[in-house]
Amino acid sequence: MAPRFHTLTIKSATREGADATRLTFDIPEDLRAAYRFTPGQYLTLRATIDGEDTRRSYSICSALSDPDLSVGVKRIEGGTFSTFALTLQAGDTLDVMTPEGRFTAPVGGENNYLLLAAGSGVTPILSIAQSVLEGEPDSRVTLCYANRSTDQVMFRETIEDLKDRYMTRFLLTHVMDEEAQDVELFNGRLDGEKLATMTTRGLIHPGAYDAIFICGPQPMIEAASAALETLGAPKDRIKYELFTPSTPLPVAGAVATPKAEQGAKVEVRLDGSSRSFAMEEGDTVIEAAARAGLELPYSCANGMCATCRCKLAKGEGEMVQNFSLEPWELEQDYVLACQFRPKSEAVVLDFDAV
Ligand code: FES
Repeated sequence: MAPRFHTLTIKSATREGADATRLTFDIPEDLRAAYRFTPGQYLTLRATIDGEDTRRSYSICSALSDPDLSVGVKRIEGGTFSTFALTLQAGDTLDVMTPEGRFTAPVGGENNYLLLAAGSGVTPILSIAQSVLEGEPDSRVTLCYANRSTDQVMFRETIEDLKDRYMTRFLLTHVMDEEAQDVELFNGRLDGEKLATMTTRGLIHPGAYDAIFICGPQPMIEAASAALETLGAPKDRIKYELFTPSTPLPVAGAVATPKAEQGAKVEVRLDGSSRSFAMEEGDTVIEAAARAGLELPYSCANGMCATCRCKLAKGEGEMVQNFSLEPWELEQDYVLACQFRPKSEAVVLDFDAV
């Protein structure tokens, strides 16, 4: 089933550190199955702000055992949606898409996890840590959480509570770059050098983890994953979640944005039915569909989240940029509708293909 929006009521909105809020949604009984999630997934929130359809994805911070579904929203300087989200209160309603995302930790088994988070990147990491500690009684979790200072730490109480509850299986390290801590090693940034020193001192063991999850700003993810690989972590055990940028990222080696075939006919298969529309100059598939009155699933519109993933069942085309589809998906003709430009007169995009 393709992801879809439902209007949900906010049950509570609570502050989490400076400039962040936890929004908890009331999920009606008949929608409980649709909002079932795997730890690490996100919800896309939609609102009309200053007359514009505005949507942003926020990671779920709830544990699988929680009765409610919550996301963490950190205010971004000048961020339209996050500024709006911090004004929301219990009783307000919001359009919320069903859970999406592949930065996931299916719970079950016995594993040794390393979790690295910076700032609000801790949101999906918290969901993973809580769910794993509760649902995998023999698993161990090491969390290294980087912030500028203590007042920026999100979910502080919940994390401290986890430390108390799972003393022998949960190892927590805070790293701060604008607040001196007693142990010199924990001052500064969570970068390659820091990870190398932590490895030398025996605080982390990159080659020994069954799964490594990293969430934070792009430079931190790149530095941490490269360092962990050098320190012995197998590449296929490292998963990361990029924050969605507000502007498209440049594509390495790209020379120009591919143009869609003028007037190309696009047939879309979605939820068991078919609709067709024509592309016009400068259109993305999402825009052309909207003009024809058809709402396709999308969130970031930047090639990062894969909410708009579909299969090219007929015709040809290319993507402007892709940060989320894996090589095997490209081989099997999966594309991102928000980035896809038809290159033949007719294409068929199948959103029902799994
Ligand atoms: S909407 Fe996020 S990749 Fe297309």
